[in-house]
Amino acid sequence: MSAYEKVSQHSRFHLLPQTNQLKGLMTIIRDKKTKRGDFVFYSDRVIRLLVEEGLNYLPVVEKTVTTPMDVPFKGVAFEGRICGVSIMRAGESMEQGLRDVCTSVRIGKVLIQRDERTAQPKLYYSKLPNDIADRWVLLLDPMLATGGSAIKCVEVLQEAGVKEDRILFINLICAPEGALAMLERFPKLQIISAELDESIDEQKFILPGLGDFGDRYFGTD
Ligand code: URA
Repeated sequence: MSAYEKVSQHSRFHLLPQTNQLKGLMTIIRDKKTKRGDFVFYSDRVIRLLVEEGLNYLPVVEKTVTTPMDVPFKGVAFEGRICGVSIMRAGESMEQGLRDVCTSVRIGKVLIQRDERTAQPKLYYSKLPNDIADRWVLLLDPMLATGGSAIKCVEVLQEAGVKEDRILFINLICAPEGALAMLERFPKLQIISAELDESIDEQKFILPGLGDFGDRYFGTD
């Protein structure tokens, strides 16, 4: 079975519903002719959908309220606290989408880059909420290519005491290689993604992909 087939059938890999609305948004941001303003606007819309979907994986408890009709309504309430952690720099583009949905949410940051000498992902900076070990973590990075940085970041979270089954990796586009590497390395982590692409090239860019997300979002290309 190919990596693509393994990932697409994996029980801990969750694609957003592949609606025409989502396909339309992704078509705009994948188009190399799309200008920065539209790229940011439509990426933000997909990020909002992803964050909303991610919240579906948080635990809830039963909660009954009384409606203005003085009738009880049996509903649910979120149980457990969350925080975000963005993988710099592209992951920072997803912070506002999380804040729009979860007011005053705490957001940590991690900077990981490839070490020129060892060619391995190296941690350069991390600042995480003090009580992160008691929280569910929405780990934010829009593009998952080889998975090297994301795997290193999960290790950093584990060292900070975060339980693996409380980590939700939220991303826009992933390559089968990277998604499979993460799912196999961390047997309890869940991935929520908008689209699963075909492959990566020699420079580790996702194909068909959308190019360099950080450059297009922050206008540095
Ligand atoms: N990061 C990006 O911005 N794009 C890719 O295709 C892969 C990693």
